[in-house]
Amino acid sequence: MALQASFLLPALSARKEGKVSNVVKESAFLGASLREQHKSGLLVPVLRTQRGLVVKAVSVAEPAQGVREASLQGKKVLRQGVVVITGASSGLGLATAKALAETGKWHVVMACRDFLKAETAAKSAGMAKGSYSIMHLDLASLDSVRQFVHGFRQSGRPLDVLVCNAAIYRPTARTPTYTADGYEMSVGVNHLGHFLLANLLLEDLKKSDYPSRRLIILGSITGNSNTLAGNVPPKAGLGDLRGLAGGLSGMTSSAMIDGGDFDGAKAYKDSKICNMLTMQEFHKRFHEETGITFASLYPGCIATTGLFREHIPLFRLLFPPFQKFITKGFVSEEESGKRLAKVVSDPSLTKSGVYWSWNKDSACFENQLSQEASDSAKAQKLWEISAKLVGLA
Ligand SMILES: NC(=O)c1ccc[n+]([C@@H]2O[C@H](COP(=O)([O-])OP(=O)(O)OC[C@H]3O[C@@H](n4cnc5c(N)ncnc54)[C@H](OP(=O)(O)O)[C@@H]3O)[C@@H](O)[C@H]2O)c1
Repeated sequence: MALQASFLLPALSARKEGKVSNVVKESAFLGASLREQHKSGLLVPVLRTQRGLVVKAVSVAEPAQGVREASLQGKKVLRQGVVVITGASSGLGLATAKALAETGKWHVVMACRDFLKAETAAKSAGMAKGSYSIMHLDLASLDSVRQFVHGFRQSGRPLDVLVCNAAIYRPTARTPTYTADGYEMSVGVNHLGHFLLANLLLEDLKKSDYPSRRLIILGSITGNSNTLAGNVPPKAGLGDLRGLAGGLSGMTSSAMIDGGDFDGAKAYKDSKICNMLTMQEFHKRFHEETGITFASLYPGCIATTGLFREHIPLFRLLFPPFQKFITKGFVSEEESGKRLAKVVSDPSLTKSGVYWSWNKDSACFENQLSQEASDSAKAQKLWEISAKLVGLA
């Protein structure tokens, strides 16, 4: 039960911690195939199911609407920002997409592995037609990541903010599963898929003329050993990265980054350290040169999201009330969406290299990362190995 406990403690820890397309190739997708199609000058991929039903797999709205500054009664107004959010089909990603879309100031590109789920989620969240597009992205396949980037560029939209939000958590898994490229799934999806995506889309962020361009990677309290929650076994720890360097294959190397025995809960926490280290390495390498803001955050304990879908039923039943009434660390999906939307768009949050958190009054503050999650030598080594694994070096 130790693995559950780390999620049971974030409220206590937070207080302690703080000081105050287009798809080019055929692609397997839920037993269906994606193929490209020309339509009105835009490539619009369609999803052909095994029964021959064809649905649009990428909803590319009007071409590059609001790409330039609009002129209103002679005054220049800021064009609509374009934000890509991975994993926007549920939980935090969906709540953030909704919060940004309803301001009218943002067009949200929902980068999701399940097109129909994302479309249904957007509609039931009440997101207005035209305020969002859905594009297929499966972070468990590096090929899919590359196809997403190609498709996004074909859409003609600029990229102003990228939010690397998607994640999986497999606390009850006894054996590892693997991505299409053969990497342990939690680290493959949460870290390596996002690592490739963020590196490729950095070029697009650089080209954006938006006043504040941002790259945000979700972190977590559970990867920070300077918190109570981060000290609950299995503790996150990357060791000397020997498993990662060996390719996380579970065959010629361990499936775990530190080379140890497989542990699904630890793999998630390790991936979150990778997310926080990656953000800092991006900051170190590119902030000065590009002016892009790189940030990470702990949005609070959103005990009701799909992140816990693989947990035992008793945990899923008790976790939300425990967070609400005992630790009082519970954050609703709506509130967490507002928090992340703030990191995306608030003019006061432009500081780069920062890990944001919120106190019990829902005030945002710059939090401290654990020693390991802020180890710059480890961040550099992680970057170099990851670049090799995703084919960038
Ligand atoms: N919940 C919390 O208390 C909490 C606390 C700290 C940090 N976080 C972080 O917040 C982020 C969002 O988590 P959440 O709680 O909102 O969980 P969630 O509701 O399960 O959302 C995760 C999203 O990731 C998507 N996803 C999973 N595998 C994917 C893949 N291979 N390719 C593309 N998308 C994939 C899911 O898609 P499907 O809908 O298709 O499954 C879903 O949209 C994560 O980074 C998590 O680490 C959450």
